[in-house]
Amino acid sequence: MRTPVIAGNWKLFKTIAEAMALVDGLKPLVAGTKGVEIVVAPVFTALSRVAEALADSNIRLAAQDCYWEEEGAFTGEVAPKLLKDAGCSHVIIGHSERRQYFGETDETVNKKTRAAIAAGLTAIVCVGETLAEREAGATFAVVETQISGGLAGLSAASLEQVVIAYEPVWAIGTGKTASDTQAQEVHAFIRSLVAKLFGNSAADAVRILYGGSVKPDNVKGLMAQADIDGALVGGASLKADSFAAIANFGA
Ligand code: 13P
Repeated sequence: MRTPVIAGNWKLFKTIAEAMALVDGLKPLVAGTKGVEIVVAPVFTALSRVAEALADSNIRLAAQDCYWEEEGAFTGEVAPKLLKDAGCSHVIIGHSERRQYFGETDETVNKKTRAAIAAGLTAIVCVGETLAEREAGATFAVVETQISGGLAGLSAASLEQVVIAYEPVWAIGTGKTASDTQAQEVHAFIRSLVAKLFGNSAADAVRILYGGSVKPDNVKGLMAQADIDGALVGGASLKADSFAAIANFGA
């Protein structure tokens, strides 16, 4: 059985004080939630303070990106071991916004993923097609390239430290969720691809999250799909009640 993951990507929102208020509100609402890995991803500057606030909770901490070198003359970058040092257990890698605005490629996703794993973090590796790619019938091809490039050279064992997030770009922040069937179709494809690349047991174990306008009222239908193992939530993770309602999808 795969433990579901509900992760909140706060993107470029919230000061430290706002982040603290959000986790204070969230903690009691999910304190009783069992059998779900709950993760929040604040901005870098809030990580260590949020880590302290989460110390006595069942909520884990993620960063939204990392660099692949451990240290050196790389102004502005943050190494995976520093994320660990700040209290992170997870890091989001290759979000479509980084691909779109910051030049992230499958090659940099791969370097970052390897570095995150080596530092003992769980990498939440994001993939997903644009609307134009979907309309051109290229969804599977795009996702295949992103997965085989992003996870290139990893061992089947290290895949235990990888969570895949399928986020169709056209569904992010648009209020347009992929239908349960559309999402399931791609998730099943991703799992079969992981089986081809890393073997059946890695494919059975890997968690594949859906992201793109996940809300309290659509999470149940998505989670009922055989190959959807959780959600990567943007907008609805910025409020304690809506994120808690998503984390408590099984209640
Ligand atoms: P929304 O939930 O706001 O569509 O964002 C999804 C996302 O990009 C999570 O990483």
